[in-house]
Amino acid sequence: AAIEKGGYDHFMLKEIFEQPQTIFDCLRGRLDATAGTITMSGIEKYADELVNTNRIVMVACGTSWHAGLVAEYIFEELCRINVEVEYASEFRYRNPVINKGDVIIAISQSGETADTLVAIENAKNQGAIIFGVVNVVGSSISRASHAGAYTHAGPEIGVASTKAFTAQLAVLTMMALAVAKKKGTITEQRYQTLLKELEAVPEKVSKLLKSVDGIKALAEKYKDAEDFLYLGRGFNFPVALEGALKLKEISYIHAEGYPAAEMKHGPIALVDETLPVVFIATRDSYHEKVISNMQEIKARKGMVISVINEGDEQSISLSNDVIIVPEADEVIAPMLSVIPMQLLAYYIGVARGLDVDKPRNLAKSVTVE
Ligand code: G6P
Repeated sequence: AAIEKGGYDHFMLKEIFEQPQTIFDCLRGRLDATAGTITMSGIEKYADELVNTNRIVMVACGTSWHAGLVAEYIFEELCRINVEVEYASEFRYRNPVINKGDVIIAISQSGETADTLVAIENAKNQGAIIFGVVNVVGSSISRASHAGAYTHAGPEIGVASTKAFTAQLAVLTMMALAVAKKKGTITEQRYQTLLKELEAVPEKVSKLLKSVDGIKALAEKYKDAEDFLYLGRGFNFPVALEGALKLKEISYIHAEGYPAAEMKHGPIALVDETLPVVFIATRDSYHEKVISNMQEIKARKGMVISVINEGDEQSISLSNDVIIVPEADEVIAPMLSVIPMQLLAYYIGVARGLDVDKPRNLAKSVTVE
């Protein structure tokens, strides 16, 4: 088993560290930044349906649902298509309105999650076109889809999803860029920039993974907290949700992820000097707004841990601790900012003496409802 883990203590850590390679594998043969092209053979047959649709519904569970939320921001921004993101378990039971030409994108690591599978089967019967973004080749969801793109992240053993998530984001971003290019909803310059940015992600993730010692130290410092709050806005709002989910799964510490502004409508009541608040605050079009939310937490004596880009003096002055991530376009940023979320949860889980690869009560894949 030690060999399978490639020298790492846990599969989860191994899979976190595999991400430069898995993201690279996911982009390989599809993205050519020099030629300015994206080639996804699995979606070609239904590419027109995707380009011409008025509505995309992302259907997923768990971490895959968070990837869908990021994709909502990306598709709306780049493709100007109305996107909804649905929990498969809710979508399948509530008699959703499906119109001709609607596109469903089912996102699933295992391709076997029962709720997601039934949700797409129902929608297919009502005339929707189904795209699968799936990791396991030949799985039920991939077979039930009209078209799709595999994430090529390799087997994910750790119950808490890590490398599958970043690969899902890579696939969904490529899909959005291909659609935007065809629709003409993106400028040539932005398109070229984003292709180059996407190509640079594996190297940036590699660089980011070198700062692991700092995160380990933070885990020691904060491991006894009873609650955590995770805040972000825009493209990084779903990263806040994912950060909180990872912590709950792996460390059994209660955590809530929230859109940073919405915290004023509730969670701010929890803030005192014992509450760690993780801000995902990389430089993007929301940055000033996030800083003012940080000030609000600081004014109530919360302990601010911020995930920022280098040289962000304003955030540094408001934070008890910072984690630096490489700079990226806001569309790409979640693929980087989520990595410290994974590492923080991992090291807190380990520091609390827990079996992070097999957290209690959780299953890798929920194949019964
Ligand atoms: C379970 C796993 C999660 C995963 C979710 C959805 O809850 O523990 O890690 O995100 O199922 O699984 P899927 O295979 O459909 O992505």
